[in-house]
Amino acid sequence: MHSDRRIFNLALIGFMGAGKTSVGRLVAEQLHFDYLDSDELIQSRTGRSITEIFKTDGEPAFRALERQVVEELSNRARTVISTGGGLPVNPANLASLKTHALVVCLWASPEKIWERVKGQTHRPLLNDPDPQKKIRDLLATREQFYKQADVLVNTDIRSVREVALHVVHQFRLESSSR
Ligand code: S3P
Repeated sequence: MHSDRRIFNLALIGFMGAGKTSVGRLVAEQLHFDYLDSDELIQSRTGRSITEIFKTDGEPAFRALERQVVEELSNRARTVISTGGGLPVNPANLASLKTHALVVCLWASPEKIWERVKGQTHRPLLNDPDPQKKIRDLLATREQFYKQADVLVNTDIRSVREVALHVVHQFRLESSSR
């Protein structure tokens, strides 16, 4: 990582079900940071659920809202930012996050992801006749973007608490070295 990077925040990226929300909340608590979620921001701005936005306006409209919210995040400090799973696919989003945050990717295998999301219904992209295939396909196309994070953490073999501790440790290391 370039030593002139400014690290005020911590951004979590990764696939649906990687644990960004539960880990993010815990990390925010431990660092005494605020916690924000890009999907929640979109929902509160529009007064509509993500499912509704996808259904009535389509995915491109959702991505445009996501893009807008990411830009606004650059005003934040001492904030853990949890991001929607598709957000880093737009390189401008990742570049923007990297101007103010350490970007940590929570990685999970397709099997683990399925185990974690199968009982949930709020993700339009997984509302598919073959959600397991959808997970494998999406993950394969997104892997290249997730791997551009500053830090990659495998969550398959760790509890939420262990992942959070690891993320806090990495954040302290990176932010104290600049
Ligand atoms: C999406 C992930 C969701 C949400 C939307 C699209 C994606 O967020 O932004 O349903 O493209 O992977 P989570 O990763 O928090 O589930």
